[in-house]
Amino acid sequence: MKDSAPQAVFLSDYTPPAYLVDRVSLVFRLDPAATRVLSRIEFRPNPAAAPGQPLRLDGEKLRLIRAAVAGTALEDGVCAHSETGLTIPADRLPDGPFLWEAEVEIDPAGNTALEGLYMSNGMYCTQCEAEGFRKITYYPDRPDVMAPFDVRIESDQPVLLSNGNRGAAGDGFAEWSDPWPKPAYLFALVAGDLRAVKDRFTTKSGREVELGIYVRPGDEGKCDYALDALKRSMKWDEDVYGREYDLAIFNIVAVDDFNMGAMENKGLNIFNSKYVLASPDTATDGDYENVEGIIAHEYFHNWTGNRITCRDWFQLCLKEGLTVFRDQQFSSDMRSAPVKRIGDVLALRARQFREDNGPLAHPVRPSSYIEINNFYTATVYEKGAEVIGMLKRLVGDAGYARALDLYFRRHDGDAATIEDWLKVFEDATDRDLTQFGRWYTQAGTPRLHVTEDFKDGCYTLHIKQETPPTPGQPAKAPQVIPIAVGLLNPNGDEVVPTTVLEMTEAEQSFTFENLAARPVPSILRDFSAPVILERTTSTEERAFLLAHDTDPFNKWEAGRALAKDVLARMVTDNAAPGPAYLDALERVARDDGLDPAFRALALRLPSEDDMAQTLFDAGVTPDPLAIHAAREKLMLAMAEHLSAILPDLYEAMNIPGPYAPDARAAGCRALRQTALGLLSRLDHGKAAAKQYRDADNMTEQLGALGALLTIGAGQEEVGRFYRQWEHDRLVIDKWFALQTSHAAPHRAAETAQALTRHKDFDWKNPNRFRSVIGALAMNAAGFHDPSGASYELVADWLIRLDPVNPQTTARMTTMFETWRRYDADRQDLMRDALRRIARTPELSRDTTEMVGRILG
Ligand code: ARG
Ligand code: ZN
Repeated sequence: MKDSAPQAVFLSDYTPPAYLVDRVSLVFRLDPAATRVLSRIEFRPNPAAAPGQPLRLDGEKLRLIRAAVAGTALEDGVCAHSETGLTIPADRLPDGPFLWEAEVEIDPAGNTALEGLYMSNGMYCTQCEAEGFRKITYYPDRPDVMAPFDVRIESDQPVLLSNGNRGAAGDGFAEWSDPWPKPAYLFALVAGDLRAVKDRFTTKSGREVELGIYVRPGDEGKCDYALDALKRSMKWDEDVYGREYDLAIFNIVAVDDFNMGAMENKGLNIFNSKYVLASPDTATDGDYENVEGIIAHEYFHNWTGNRITCRDWFQLCLKEGLTVFRDQQFSSDMRSAPVKRIGDVLALRARQFREDNGPLAHPVRPSSYIEINNFYTATVYEKGAEVIGMLKRLVGDAGYARALDLYFRRHDGDAATIEDWLKVFEDATDRDLTQFGRWYTQAGTPRLHVTEDFKDGCYTLHIKQETPPTPGQPAKAPQVIPIAVGLLNPNGDEVVPTTVLEMTEAEQSFTFENLAARPVPSILRDFSAPVILERTTSTEERAFLLAHDTDPFNKWEAGRALAKDVLARMVTDNAAPGPAYLDALERVARDDGLDPAFRALALRLPSEDDMAQTLFDAGVTPDPLAIHAAREKLMLAMAEHLSAILPDLYEAMNIPGPYAPDARAAGCRALRQTALGLLSRLDHGKAAAKQYRDADNMTEQLGALGALLTIGAGQEEVGRFYRQWEHDRLVIDKWFALQTSHAAPHRAAETAQALTRHKDFDWKNPNRFRSVIGALAMNAAGFHDPSGASYELVADWLIRLDPVNPQTTARMTTMFETWRRYDADRQDLMRDALRRIARTPELSRDTTEMVGRILG
C-alpha cells in the first residue's frame, strides 16, 4: 500500500506560479542506466503572485547529486524532499531573480513507463506531456511556466536532436536552442542511430525551413507519405488560418515504443512509428489516412498548443479540441468532406458517446482529476472538437475567422483558458456565450426528443432536450444546440434548404410556414451537434431519406437507422430482415452516381458494440452473442439479396495501375472490400483466397485475410502472412490483432492467450500489447463470452502490465467501462475482474483512479 491515497487536483484551486523562468539551460550526459542532467534555470519572482513564497520544484525518480541557489550549494537537509519534488524555503532565496543549478542522475533504460527520458530499441527519446519533464530534472512542471531552452547533448550516438534551431555540434555533442518560450511538457530530446529523410519548405513570407523525418535504418523508404502530408499541412495552415511556421527546422522522429499516437514537442515531433511509416505493401488505406491526419494534428499544434498553450491541465481541450477540429478540417479538404464527417461521427459515437453514457463521463473541461494522463479522452479531444464545430456553425464562417484571428493576436505567447477562448468569440461576434459555455462544464450526451405537427401549411417541430445524470452531476441545465434542418417534399424535392435552428430552452418549437404539403424533415444535418436524436420514424420515411436527402450525412444516417431497426428486431423478436432494408441497400449499391467510399459506408452495418448501446438505450439488456449472430445472419441475407451484383461490383472497383493512397482509390478499395466480405459468405472464400494470392498492397492482402477469417477459413494464409512479414513489427501487429478480433466468440480468449505465448509477443511494447489484449475489444461477442474467460485474461494482463506501464494499463481498463449494460452474470464477472485489479498491491494511481471510477 502507498502511504496515502492519491490526491485529487481541483480547477478551483488554481493559483499562479510563485516564480517564473526566464531561461533554461540543460546538459545531458547520456548513458543508458546513469544519464546525468545538469540544469541552470533562471528564476524570477512572479509579480502576479504573493511575494516571499518558497520555491517548489517537481521531481520524480531523480537522484539528486548537487544543487545550488545563486551560486551557493544547498547542503543536505535544506530542501524538503519528497517522492514528488522538493521545496526550498523562502529564506534561502534572494529577493530578486536568481539562478538554480542542479545535477541529477536518471535511468532511461529502466524507464518502462515510457514517460520522461526512456529508451526504445537502443535509442533515447522523451515523452513529457503531461508531467514527464519532472522525471528528467527538478522543475516547476506546469504549463503556465514558459521559457526559452538551450540544450547540450553529450553522447556518441550518431544523431542528437532537441527542440528549436541547431547550435554548435561536434564529435560526441550537439547543441540546440529554442527561442520560443515553452512549457516543459514540450521539451524533447532524441539520440540514436537514425537515418533522416529530408526536404524543404518555403513559408509564405519566404522563410526556408529544413524538414527531416528520422527513422531506424531500413525504414527510410517509408517516409514519403508523411513528408508529403507535412508539407500539405504547412501550406494548409498558411492558407486557411494564416499561420506560418516559426523556426528554421522541423523534425519528426518515429519511435516503436510509445504510449499514445504522437507528440507536438516544439520543432521536434515524436511519433509512434505506426503513424509515420507507410508503404503500399505494409500500410493499409486506413493507415495512410491516420498518418496524414496525425502528421497534420501535431503540426497544427505549433500554433494551437505551443504558441498558445494551456494555463493548466484542466484546459487541455483548449489545445486538443481545437487541434482535432483543425485536423478534421484539413482531412476533409484533402479528401471527401461527407465521407470524413461520417467517419468522424462513427468514431465519436463509438468512443465518446460510449464514454459519456457510462461511469467515466466527464465534462470537456473537467473540474478535478487524480492523474491527468487519464483525461486524454475522446471527450476532451473529439467532443472538444464538436463543441468548436457548433461554435463555428452558430457564428458563421466569417465570425469564426474573425474570432480565430483575434485569438492568435491576443493570446500569442500566453498560457490561456477556455474563458479566454470564449471571450475572443464574444468580442469578435458580439454574442453572449455564457450559456454556450455549458458545453465545457456539463458532461453527458443530450437527448433531443422531437415531435411535430402540420396544419394550414405550417409545419412545427417541437423539440425537448434532456441530458441524463452523469457522475457528480445529477441535474443538467439546457444547452445551446444548433440543429441544422432541411425539409423535403413528398416527391423528394427540397422545399426548405438547410437552416440552423438555435435551441436554448429545455423545450422549444420551431415553425416553417407556407408549405403546400406535409414535408419530410431531415434533422441534425451534417450532425450539427453531438446529441442523440430521438424521434419516432417509419421505415418508409427512412428509406425515403436514404433515397432523396440532399445532405450526405443524413442520407447515410437514414440507412444506418434502418439497419439498426432491422438488427434490433432480429435480436429481440427473432424477426427476419425485411425486404425494405435490403431493397434500399441494393439501390445504394447499384447507384454509380454515389461516391464508392460513401457506398461502402452505407453498406457497413453498425458495430456490435454500437448495437449493444442502442438496445440498452431502448431498455433491452444486450446479449452480445445474440447481437453477433443477428449481425452475421443479416450479412448473409445481404449477400444473398445482392448476389446478382456482387461479382460485378467487386470487379468494377478493381482500379488498374499501381497502388495510390488517395481518397478516390481508397474509396474504391473500401467498396471492393465490402463486396468481398459479402461474396465470401457465398463462395466459401474463393474470391478472397484469390485476392490474397494476387494482392500487391497491404489493404488488399489484409482485407482478403480478414474476409477469410470471418468465415472460419484462412488458417494457411495466417501462417504464410507471418512468414512473409516476420521482420516488420507494424505488420506483425496487424497479424496479431486480426487473429484476436476475428476469432469465433467462444474461442477469442484462447486465441488471445495462445498469441501471448508467441515468441513475438513483446508485452512491454504498447502497440504489441494492444494488438493482442486490446484487440479483444474489437471482438465484442468474444470479449463478453459468458464463461468470463476474456475478462479474466484481460485482468491478468492489466495486473501484469501496471507496474511496468501504468499509463497504457489505465487506458485499457476502459474495455470494462460498459459493464453496467449487461446481464447480472456478466456484471458479476466483470465486477470481479475489476475488483481483482483494484486489490492488486501497489497498483499505480493511474489504474487505481480508472478502476475506482468504472466501479463507481
Ligand atoms: N498532445 C499529444 C497529442 O494529442 C498527446 C500526448 C498525450 N500524452 C500523454 N501521455 N497523455 O497530440
Ligand atoms: Zn493533440
